[in-house]
Amino acid sequence: MQLFAAVSVAFALLRLVQAQSPVWGQCGGIGWTGATTCAAGTTCITLNPYYSQCLPGATVPTTTQPAPPTTTPPTSTAPATSAPGSSTTAVPGACSTPATISGFNNSKLPNPFLFDDNTPVRSAEDWTCRRAQIQALIAGYESGELPGRPSSLTASLSNNTLSITATNGNNSITFKPTITFPSGTPPAAGWPLLIVYDSLSIPVPSGIATMIYGNSEMAQQNDASSRGLGLFYNLYGQSATASAMTAWAWGVSRIIDVLEQMPAAHINTQRIAVTGCSRDGKGALMAGALEPRIALTIPQESGSGGDACWRLSLYEQDAGSVVQTATEIVMENVWFSADFADYVDDLSVLPFDHHMLAALIAPRPMISFENTDYVWLSPLSSYGCMAAAHAVWDALGVADHHGFEQVGGHAHCAWPASLSPQLNAFFDRFLLDQPNVNTSFFATNGVFNNVTWTASDWIDWSTPALNERRFG
Ligand SMILES: *[C@@H]1O[C@H](CO)[C@@H](O)[C@H](O)[C@H]1NC(C)=O
Ligand SMILES: *[C@@H]1O[C@H](CO)[C@@H](O)[C@H](O)[C@H]1NC(C)=O
Ligand SMILES: *[C@@H]1O[C@H](CO)[C@@H](O)[C@H](O)[C@H]1NC(C)=O
Ligand SMILES: *[C@@H]1O[C@H](CO)[C@@H](O)[C@H](O)[C@H]1NC(C)=O
Ligand SMILES: *[C@@H]1O[C@H](CO)[C@@H](O)[C@H](O)[C@H]1NC(C)=O
Repeated sequence: MQLFAAVSVAFALLRLVQAQSPVWGQCGGIGWTGATTCAAGTTCITLNPYYSQCLPGATVPTTTQPAPPTTTPPTSTAPATSAPGSSTTAVPGACSTPATISGFNNSKLPNPFLFDDNTPVRSAEDWTCRRAQIQALIAGYESGELPGRPSSLTASLSNNTLSITATNGNNSITFKPTITFPSGTPPAAGWPLLIVYDSLSIPVPSGIATMIYGNSEMAQQNDASSRGLGLFYNLYGQSATASAMTAWAWGVSRIIDVLEQMPAAHINTQRIAVTGCSRDGKGALMAGALEPRIALTIPQESGSGGDACWRLSLYEQDAGSVVQTATEIVMENVWFSADFADYVDDLSVLPFDHHMLAALIAPRPMISFENTDYVWLSPLSSYGCMAAAHAVWDALGVADHHGFEQVGGHAHCAWPASLSPQLNAFFDRFLLDQPNVNTSFFATNGVFNNVTWTASDWIDWSTPALNERRFG
């Protein structure tokens, strides 16, 4: 009892002296009860609704794009301030983020909790740097360079069509996502929004706007000959290294940029979710990973290239299942960068796998849905990969921000009604502000086509406690 009392007093004192958060410390976010001001020389930057952080100097997250957007709102009521968000999360100055690691060799799922130099990740602050390292590695090996905000971005909203024009040098493109608004008066903060890649295949509760985003127009995905084709490449040139999935994510970021500056659209840009199925599920996962303003990521039947891990899909193939693997995917389409083909013949050289792609989303919420009837999608791989990714949410104290559900008995991209409670729980809690909804869901039917999942064969690391606090 005495020890407990002493610890409590020490904790109270700690809370008292924490009137300001130190550099890299948390300074806000849903559920955060600590300091909301930052030590001198640092600024509290909102990375997402769950995490604001004291970053040195900067008044906005640093990007390689110095020019602010010149967004034209549909009315004169838009604030003239610069937008807080950006597609490029601020990287701590001391954090080295190489694009590749020469000599890397690990046939298991790499440890997300080791920095590139093999020193351990010990805190939520460390995770910010580790996250930046992982993002740089994924860009370097498989997804290509993500441009930031272009020099000019203008938008208008008419007849529920958002018309966005982006200009880069002499090049200019316009794309037009369409919005379906709920009926009734919008909430003061605006409607939550679900951004849908190409076409909707999940049920959406009332009170949430949906946007159809033509990602296949932004970057074509017909087959391997689609490389460099689509609006994105009209803007940045055919030799841009961005893969189709990266180009799609760039478009999502521009949609959020303009909505942030357009109060007349009545969209709550703190409550934006993204979804897609199959190939577009792979894309939705990449968008959630690359864009920190996405509050909820819902990949549906994304399989290999999405919530499955390359190494595990190869294992499934070696065990006799006919599955999509990295060597196949680089021949099939342009979802990944041209450079990725250089690495697929020896997956051990990849200093990441897709458990770490998904982990870029943490601590933000994500739930993915898989279908064991489609062996091609690599069901064991999705389960094992998401089990490994789950460790990162767990380490950050928010295991219930990461859900996974895997069943069979329905067609590819058809919605199984049995999973609606899990989907609705994530929507209710994270888009519709019902904080007490239970989102602890992580389940599979275990139908892995006689291929066996043995966690210890793939995960030779343990999960540290990076944050004693609970978010959200
Ligand atoms: C990677 O490690 C394995 C086993 O540790 C070894 O057999 C293999 O030669 C190594 N590959 C490279 C390229 O170093
Ligand atoms: C908006 O929709 C109405 C009715 O469909 C149509 O008459 C009008 O031309 C549209 N306006 C624009 C700017 O497209
Ligand atoms: C843009 O167009 C102008 C006028 O045609 C030309 O002089 C300039 O070189 C172009 N810039 C680029 C980057 O292509
Ligand atoms: C949430 O639901 C899970 C089962 O889905 C249950 O194990 C857990 O105890 C619940 N948590 C709370 C706080 O009720
Ligand atoms: C799994 O093994 C059982 C028993 O050997 C066999 O009947 C079944 O066809 C196998 N299933 C697959 C998908 O290979």
